[in-house]
Amino acid sequence: MNVLILGSGGREHALARACARSREVGKLIVAPGNPGCAAVARTRAVDLMDHGQVIALCRQEEIDLVVVGPEAPLVAGIVDDLAREGIACFGPSRAAAQLEGSKGFAKDFCREFGIRTAEYSRFRNREDARAYIRDRGAPIVVKADGLAAGKGVVVAATIEEAEAAVDTLLPDSGSAGAGLVVEEFLDGEEVSFFALCDGAAATPFASAQDHKRVGEGDTGPNTGGMGAYSPPPIMTPEMSDRVMREIVMPTVRGMAVRGTPFRGVLFAGLMIGKDGPKLIEFNVRFGDPETEAIIERLTDDLPRLLEASAKGALPRIAPHFSADAALTVVMAARGYPGEPLRGTRISGIEQAERMPGVVVLQAGTRREGDAILADGGRVLAVTALGRTVSEAQSRAYSAVDRIDWPGGFCRRDIGWRAVARERGHNS
Ligand code: AMP
Ligand code: GLY
Repeated sequence: MNVLILGSGGREHALARACARSREVGKLIVAPGNPGCAAVARTRAVDLMDHGQVIALCRQEEIDLVVVGPEAPLVAGIVDDLAREGIACFGPSRAAAQLEGSKGFAKDFCREFGIRTAEYSRFRNREDARAYIRDRGAPIVVKADGLAAGKGVVVAATIEEAEAAVDTLLPDSGSAGAGLVVEEFLDGEEVSFFALCDGAAATPFASAQDHKRVGEGDTGPNTGGMGAYSPPPIMTPEMSDRVMREIVMPTVRGMAVRGTPFRGVLFAGLMIGKDGPKLIEFNVRFGDPETEAIIERLTDDLPRLLEASAKGALPRIAPHFSADAALTVVMAARGYPGEPLRGTRISGIEQAERMPGVVVLQAGTRREGDAILADGGRVLAVTALGRTVSEAQSRAYSAVDRIDWPGGFCRRDIGWRAVARERGHNS
């Protein structure tokens, strides 16, 4: 099977490593990829929003399966365009990608199919949104309807903050296309839950906990994710069954009933509160940096699973993962999540990777001669396995300490919840 992975982050590097391990894979190409991907696959420059370019690449390289990393091409209908050319693609159609592409669509869908989520209302008018906020009180959450790369959500502690968010997130009141969701604040512990779906069936893949805030102790502005670990202790087998029963399967059935069957990976962002799991949001692709941690634990053949999902033939048995924990520390360029410092030199990646159970996944990097330079916000995803989250954490930070990169920074407390739990059990 010739496989083409689309994307250029740490997630795609992780997917490429897993595909490179598989005996099923002939050619392996990542487009556009990054220097990390280039160590395990061929990379090709391509504009992911130009589907004609992607189709031409598939023809030229006789690609049997395309795996789409990021959400933007999915929402833009790349799977539909490839399917029309007879090319199998892992990921949802444009219609099914609306689960991530429009928060309003996702909320209405949950209401229609009885999936538990925060109470909400949709607005196209600022004044109505403000009135609703004043009526409900704070804390309250304001979200832009469309894709916003993590910048479209404000968890407001006060009514004033929520009203200010209405102004920033709905700049031209009343215009067609723009919209807001205002919803109830959910309390609890967040989990990223991944399920593979083939249009009719679904199987749990794995779950992880992400650290979205830039600062230690989960403080400061939101980011794409500063680190993750898997498995999260809160996701017991019973909880996983419940999430499949109450959230994933009703979603798969609902999308089939609507005539837009969901294929690909359904990423349910969950809040686990006192009365069980509720959906925060859907994503229709693998999480980043969750995937970097999860994929290192997968013991089954990844490309075979992705192909089965794409072709409507998922096996009944859930994929297998090692009992080890995996933990990923994101190293970001100074300035992130604002404007990141570009072009600073990174050394020590090989020294870090010489440690057992450690892999340094590359995200925002570029190669210049022999040097690896920072070229984005989130730059490296340093990942380690261990028997416990504590062990994975201490290995990951030993690896981080071997990387010499004055232009970068990371949080030093990734995994703190699980580590605190493990300490509690041992004392
Ligand atoms: P989203 O882009 O929807 O994942 O939102 C970004 C982050 O905002 C989530 O990961 C949560 O931490 C937080 N968040 C979103 N919606 C809610 C909510 N209803 N209650 C509490 N926190 C939320
Ligand atoms: N880490 C969260 C996401 O991929 O959206």
